[in-house]
Amino acid sequence: MSRRNLLLGAGALFTLPTERARAPERASLREAAARSGRRFGAAARAEQIAAEPDLAEALLVECDALTPEISMKWDAIEPEPGRRDFSRSDALLRFATENGRALHGHTLIWHRSIPPWAEAALAEGAGWAPVAAHFEAVLGRYGNEIATWDVVNEPIDTGHRMDGLRDGTFLRAFGEGYIERAFHEARAHAPGAVLFLNEYGLDYDIPVERDRRYLFLKLVERLRQAGAPLGGIGLQGHLDLRKGPFSEPLFAGFLRDLSGFGLEIHITELDVREHDLTAPPLVRDRLVAEIAKRYLDVALDCAAVRAVSTWGLSTRHSWLAIEPEDLDFYWRLVGGQGKGPGFNRGLPYDSDMRPAPMREAILAAFERRPLGF
Ligand code: G3I
Repeated sequence: MSRRNLLLGAGALFTLPTERARAPERASLREAAARSGRRFGAAARAEQIAAEPDLAEALLVECDALTPEISMKWDAIEPEPGRRDFSRSDALLRFATENGRALHGHTLIWHRSIPPWAEAALAEGAGWAPVAAHFEAVLGRYGNEIATWDVVNEPIDTGHRMDGLRDGTFLRAFGEGYIERAFHEARAHAPGAVLFLNEYGLDYDIPVERDRRYLFLKLVERLRQAGAPLGGIGLQGHLDLRKGPFSEPLFAGFLRDLSGFGLEIHITELDVREHDLTAPPLVRDRLVAEIAKRYLDVALDCAAVRAVSTWGLSTRHSWLAIEPEDLDFYWRLVGGQGKGPGFNRGLPYDSDMRPAPMREAILAAFERRPLGF
């Protein structure tokens, strides 16, 4: 995709360039991010990049950094004990480094990506050895080339324990010290990396997310006090138009509290889940862009926020997409007519790899906050 196509795609919705009076060429997201002293990235999969040149090109135009959407997770790397498959992560790293882009390591520990054999072993008292071997294998291979890592993903869950820790495999096997231990284990294999704690559901002004923010802050405080080598906070930023009010002052206050720990903050998995796929596309795009802009305006007012990544660049592959075989069912469910656009539209590019209004929203949010503002 050429710059001109990029401009025209975005321009169709925001400005109408004519032959005589063309709008000035707009920056790419990575250029806008750089002017704001930040970096922009997206989650990606090597096999999709290899198969889809338009995706590869858009990623290179827009992104400083890529996050492996699936391939670096424990179940993807080691489906059977000791049989490790690094091929897709190697391919993504090659694509990134050959093009001068970074990878963000995702993710060493996550309750949803434990291979079944390890799940069973940990439950049966195998101890820390499988975790240590996994960290050693992954960080031993990539620890020098990848500078930032999600070490623990999504440890918070409300409604079970006073400390808000998820009642899952790791907690049951190792007690509440497992998070701190994971950070030390990661540090041992990647001495120079910035180690992140990544979490979702910290965005909205609704009771469960108020609780989650409080519990998350307490967890960060405990890890800092215990001397865990925590260097960064990942806020996933999976926005959701079904969830209810977003409060700028509340979110700003949360970011202020988080900044107090002196850690860098990344928005790691930004996207928007829609609530009505039957609304006219222009209405849907406006709602998506509006919430992304409101969220990022607050986030980028916070100096500790150093990077923004979307969870995928194009809705073609979003985890929020409805599978084609489920579309008819969906339309019956919502009482809609006909086929219509079935994809969730909450990413910067549409499924035909054309820039969507959310891209403009991200661009405008970066441009509102140039360096030294
Ligand atoms: O490709 C196979 C397909 O052939 C098969 O028919 C189908 C049946 O289940 O599975 C397909 O693979 C799925 C893959 O997504 C591709 O769609 C996997 O089962 C599924 O587990 C995988 O889900 C990924 C999920 O993490 C688990 O790894 C999502 O793509 C990915 O977007 C999601 O990402 C997470 C972040 O890591 C953490 N934060 C939340 C975020 C969204 O859930």
